[in-house]
Amino acid sequence: RALVLTDGHGRVHRDLRVSLTDRCNLRCTYCMPAEGMPWLPTPDLLTTDELLRVIEVAVAAGITEVRLTGGEPLLRPDVVDVVRGVAAMSGEHGPVEVSLTSNALRLPKLAQPLADAGLARVNISLDTLRADRFASMTRRDRFEDTMAGIAAADAAGLAPIKINTVLMRGVNDDEAGDLLRWALDHGYELRFIEQMPLDGGHTWQRSEMITAAEILGWLREDFDLVEMPGRGAAPAERFVVDGGPGTVGIIASVTMPFCGACDRLRLTADGQLRSCLFARGETDLRTPLRDGSSEEEVTALLHSCLAGKRPGHGIDEPGFLQPPRPMSAIGG
Ligand code: GTP
Ligand code: 5AD
Ligand code: SF4
Repeated sequence: RALVLTDGHGRVHRDLRVSLTDRCNLRCTYCMPAEGMPWLPTPDLLTTDELLRVIEVAVAAGITEVRLTGGEPLLRPDVVDVVRGVAAMSGEHGPVEVSLTSNALRLPKLAQPLADAGLARVNISLDTLRADRFASMTRRDRFEDTMAGIAAADAAGLAPIKINTVLMRGVNDDEAGDLLRWALDHGYELRFIEQMPLDGGHTWQRSEMITAAEILGWLREDFDLVEMPGRGAAPAERFVVDGGPGTVGIIASVTMPFCGACDRLRLTADGQLRSCLFARGETDLRTPLRDGSSEEEVTALLHSCLAGKRPGHGIDEPGFLQPPRPMSAIGG
């Protein structure tokens, strides 16, 4: 019998996204307010052993890819141990691929140890190439550290490096072309992300959001873009730029949702399972884990969480409500 995690709409789940912490060393304006968020209390966070146990059960149930997210996952003191533990796992589909989504600030120190521990690749958030703008967008003057972190990931062979960019109207929307030129020059894959209603300050407005169509229009003034086939369950629609080999991606979560092909399940740092970024409910794994539940019991919880997964995010439906938990505590 094939081991698969299927939801009520026939979608097979292969990708587990694990938030290691809700804390962050930046304060991106589209993510959280200047004062930060009410952080999760430390006793509520899963320990290294608890995290690895859940991931192991999920792998036995059919997960093949694990992405570590945050907040900023590199703030977790045990991140190298977590990577080593997950990289050693394999299921009936073979070894697990472990990747990371980070703001890169701690990569100058951690890129090589992470690579040595078995990390396959990193996706890095970068919204501007201008140091002054970086400081105002993230409320921290850390542009040079970010660039050093990206270079360190490259030097450690954590390829392909993907760069995630959120464009905001009147803030950095004049940089799409510059960012793409820079990424092409370095051999990184740039992806532009439509902003979603998940910020801690509830400031998102549909009318302010920069759409995929706008971004493609701007890029096409300077670059030749040819759409690539075979997107599968990937969130990014990819384009070959100027005949290749460089590519650019657009993650149009809002205007062109990819929910129909979603293969993602999420675990928060405090041990709650979420079937979607936008799910209103969560399945508590922390309590049963601490009560000594068996592998069968935890596996049953994975299946019951997915059984309640809705077909789409519903952002454009009447009565849409942003989930109580912000992006920084779910993981991107
Ligand atoms: P790979 O394609 O495997 O490299 O990773 P990824 O693109 O899934 O991972 P990453 O963490 O870099 O995510 C990039 C962005 O995609 C996130 O910041 C989100 O904006 C968006 N995203 C990720 N997962 C989902 C999802 O389940 N639903 C929606 N709507 N957007 C998502
Ligand atoms: N909508 C879309 N992407 C977001 N990110 C953070 N908040 C949002 C949002 N509201 C992105 C970051 C980072 C990734 C983890 O999520 O830019 O690349
Ligand atoms: Fe931190 Fe990422 Fe939120 Fe920026 S978007 S504050 S880097 S969690």
